[in-house]
Amino acid sequence: MNKPKVLVTRGDIPKSAVSILEEKCEVELMPDHSPISRIDLLNKISGKDALFCLLTDKIDHEVLDKAGPQLKIIGTMSVGYDHLDMNEIKKRKISVGYTPNVLTAATAELTVALTLATTRRLFEAHDEITNGGWAKCAWGPLWMCGGGLVGAKVGIVGLGSIGLAVAKRLLPFDIAKIMYCGRQEKPEAAQVSGEYVTFDHLIKESDVVIITCPLNDATRNMFGPAQFASMKTNAVLINTSRGGVVDQSALVHALKTGQITAAGLDVMTPEPLPVDHELTQLKNCVLIPHIGSATLQTRTTMATMTAQNIVNALEGKPMPAQLC
Ligand code: NDP
Ligand code: DGY
Repeated sequence: MNKPKVLVTRGDIPKSAVSILEEKCEVELMPDHSPISRIDLLNKISGKDALFCLLTDKIDHEVLDKAGPQLKIIGTMSVGYDHLDMNEIKKRKISVGYTPNVLTAATAELTVALTLATTRRLFEAHDEITNGGWAKCAWGPLWMCGGGLVGAKVGIVGLGSIGLAVAKRLLPFDIAKIMYCGRQEKPEAAQVSGEYVTFDHLIKESDVVIITCPLNDATRNMFGPAQFASMKTNAVLINTSRGGVVDQSALVHALKTGQITAAGLDVMTPEPLPVDHELTQLKNCVLIPHIGSATLQTRTTMATMTAQNIVNALEGKPMPAQLC
């Protein structure tokens, strides 16, 4: 009997994940360590029964049309799924597997690291060593002072798995309190004494605003000119969700004019950010290249989970993590 055909869009996924697929499927593994080109994606998807994709692959009606009606399973090696056209996917009764929870700790850890790097100006301070700033001032009473976290009011936009894990990790820094907003109050917020507030209240009152919600029609450009204008001038914005939640031009304006003090971004628009983008010129903006879940163990688990999602679905068994 012919094995089901699976396209894997990236060549450098962990071998353990490829082995899971190869045991049951005919696998076409793209050779490159960079994203599959649109043309290759459209050509290679044709006739496949399943797709192993990454957040860098836009899966829309054109790709699904090219695939053909036998494509019934998509496994994305991510918890975010804004790169998938879910309406088209559901219309075609395609099952989708994803990777919730297994990346929560790594992403929360990175979010805390970014929060500390931004509030304590770590990247800027490092640059002072190489640009001669330190040599000039030696040690200054107010030089390189940041806001820090002690006594800070922290607002979390989207208290889901990652948001809650971030809140738990921040409490030992002696913050004043956690506020959160979202579509509904969360009983689990009690674990961090989190106060449920409106989005408007959260952005007005927080010293540190952390975005951990998904990108969707309701959250796109949630942070625009009006929101930055209403934030505290000492506020720091941290984003480890998706760049699209923030209107980036409005953020640049807010950082340049002092509407807010600083931003720390793991995600931005577009990705990769052009090397000469305005954000890269701003001292009060800490940028890291979408590495929230980037620990070896986490990425390996994400990859094997994605492979197992696909294999289980192909065999008619429940996926370890099914989105639809
Ligand atoms: P969860 O689904 O566990 O949490 C998302 C939370 O956002 C939920 O509590 C949800 O609450 C809330 N939410 C939904 N809509 C809104 C809204 N309009 N306003 C405020 N909150 C909202 O997902 P995770 O915590 O696992 O992941 C969150 C996102 O983080 C992912 O979608 C992904 O985009 C991003 N991510 C980024 C990573 C990185 O490398 N930087 C790594 C991993 C994830 P409810 O549904 O009840 O409204
Ligand atoms: C996700 O899973 O959505 C992240 O952005 C990458 O781990």
